[in-house]
Amino acid sequence: MTDSVATDAVGSGGLCAGRVVAVTGAGRGLGRAHALAFAAEGAKVVVNDLGVGLDGAPAPDSPAALVVEEIRAAGGEAVAHGGDIATSEGAASLVAAAVDAFGRLDTLVNNAGFLRDRMLVNLAEDDWDAVMRVHLKGHFLPLQAAAAHWRAEAKAGRTPVARVVNTSSGAGLLGSVGQGNYSAAKAGILGLTLVAAAEMGRYGVQVNAIAPAARTRMTEATFADTMAAPEDGAFDAMAPENVSPLVVWLGSGAASDGVTGRVFEVEAGRITVMEGWRPGPTVDKAERWTPAGAGDAARDLLARAETPGAVYGAS
Ligand SMILES: NC(=O)c1ccc[n+]([C@@H]2O[C@H](COP(=O)([O-])OP(=O)(O)OC[C@H]3O[C@@H](n4cnc5c(N)ncnc54)[C@H](O)[C@@H]3O)[C@@H](O)[C@H]2O)c1
Repeated sequence: MTDSVATDAVGSGGLCAGRVVAVTGAGRGLGRAHALAFAAEGAKVVVNDLGVGLDGAPAPDSPAALVVEEIRAAGGEAVAHGGDIATSEGAASLVAAAVDAFGRLDTLVNNAGFLRDRMLVNLAEDDWDAVMRVHLKGHFLPLQAAAAHWRAEAKAGRTPVARVVNTSSGAGLLGSVGQGNYSAAKAGILGLTLVAAAEMGRYGVQVNAIAPAARTRMTEATFADTMAAPEDGAFDAMAPENVSPLVVWLGSGAASDGVTGRVFEVEAGRITVMEGWRPGPTVDKAERWTPAGAGDAARDLLARAETPGAVYGAS
């Protein structure tokens, strides 16, 4: 492990020059776009991908190696990691791959995942478990492995300028019909992000989350019209590459001064900082309510509260 501090200054070879970045699920889609964008800003990249199908079923692909080739062809540095990030072995070996290849880890982008969409009444227990596992556990385990590495660095007197970017979804923010498992996992990632930001700041680690939207194999069939690329050469709003610039900035040393514990929606040319749960209208009568009285109070509060955003897909 080197004891040098990663270069954080903009303009000395890119926003992420000298940084080592691990991106999970970077063999295709958004993760691939993030990996290429980090490399273009001077980062050395660990490209993780297990190479599974859209539903998580084993597939013969090794897409991580292809992205490494793309980065090297463009003059960058990258290594492939083919482990399952939802296992402690895969998470630990992801961090080890960064340290072995490049001597350090500065940024972790948790992105890997897959879908098993069903209405709740038809959702098999295995489809619940698989989606919770890959998204929620698949964020927790790499985060914990990286956090242990960074805490050890901080205790050795080398406080890192470390960054984590987690991947939630509009489904986690508002809910999405037919995606009860995915919405619960993506909402869980928001809670994990808040706790990680609060716990890890003392070790020089900042943790944020994005809720992206882009054309990938996850969305191109279900939302074919919205996701389609324009044929006239106009701005390709739903290209995954449009999400990556904010991810690169959040993963860089430039995102300093308390940029942590925040959630951004990002798609096309739009970046929105999400403002989360906060108390709305409240009443306190300083003694116990009857059920009927609590109901009257709740109706009054609801009449004065803001209407929540609609659940995606709700009629
Ligand atoms: N595409 C969108 O509009 C959209 C919207 C909201 C959230 N997201 C989230 O963005 C992330 C990336 O999605 P995408 O659209 O690029 O999908 P994608 O299917 O193109 O890419 C996901 C990648 O993750 C890999 N993967 C799956 N399980 C893995 C595991 N256990 N270990 C390592 N790699 C694994 C897959 O092989 C795949 O290459 C996901 O977390 C997804 O939920 C995407």
